[in-house]
Amino acid sequence: MPPTIAIIGGTGLTALDTLKITHRETLSTPYGEPSSPLVHGELGGQTVVFLSRHGPHHTLPPHRINYRANLWALHRVGVQHVIAVAAVGGIRDDMEPGVLAFPDQLVDYTWGRPCTFFEDNLSQVTHIDFTEPYCGELRQRLIQAARALNLGALESCTYAAMQGPRLETAAEIRKLERDGCDIVGMTGMPEAALARELGLRYATCAVVANRAAGKIPGEITMAEIERNLVEGMDKVKMLLARVIPM
Ligand code: HPA
Repeated sequence: MPPTIAIIGGTGLTALDTLKITHRETLSTPYGEPSSPLVHGELGGQTVVFLSRHGPHHTLPPHRINYRANLWALHRVGVQHVIAVAAVGGIRDDMEPGVLAFPDQLVDYTWGRPCTFFEDNLSQVTHIDFTEPYCGELRQRLIQAARALNLGALESCTYAAMQGPRLETAAEIRKLERDGCDIVGMTGMPEAALARELGLRYATCAVVANRAAGKIPGEITMAEIERNLVEGMDKVKMLLARVIPM
């Protein structure tokens, strides 16, 4: 059975130990190499494929990820639904480290990343609709599963996609807040738009790794991010085990 569900793992989730692996597949695409081999397996009675966004050894920074190759490869093997797991900084006060959040909107501040499949050899200029950047139905499934597990996930929020790889200044976070953003990450775009271009149903499960810059005194450290993600990713694994059979 070809996989219909893909999980893209981000920082803190470079491998999915709950997946019963059947095989690994190395694909090349017209856009180059995906970040990692596709890891095929079974989870919750479904055929699932896992892709590690930053590479199997977490070596690709957000602006160097080949988002087009990643989405193309998943589409190529028959995927229809993508659950994108992503570490974020929490801007809103209730976005505490370890909390899960399912964004329903995004604002894109990234630049210089190949961001469309519709640019070469076109018979027609193509503008996809992106009013609702995430699949409403898949989001509802994630929300239902999180409620059933009492995970206390935040069900509506706006994701700011920043360029990185550095973290933000305190003033940038204040600006994002004025723009209506609640969480901030570096990989949500162009991933979500490319998924839409391919007709994939895509939703993000964000894991708050830290308070965004300037929200609490002091510096943000990688050690703190990694520590908080351990707790958050345990919740993600519980959520995936519940949502995938749905
Ligand atoms: N900013 C941007 N991306 C992030 C952060 C952050 O504070 N934490 C984890 N990913």
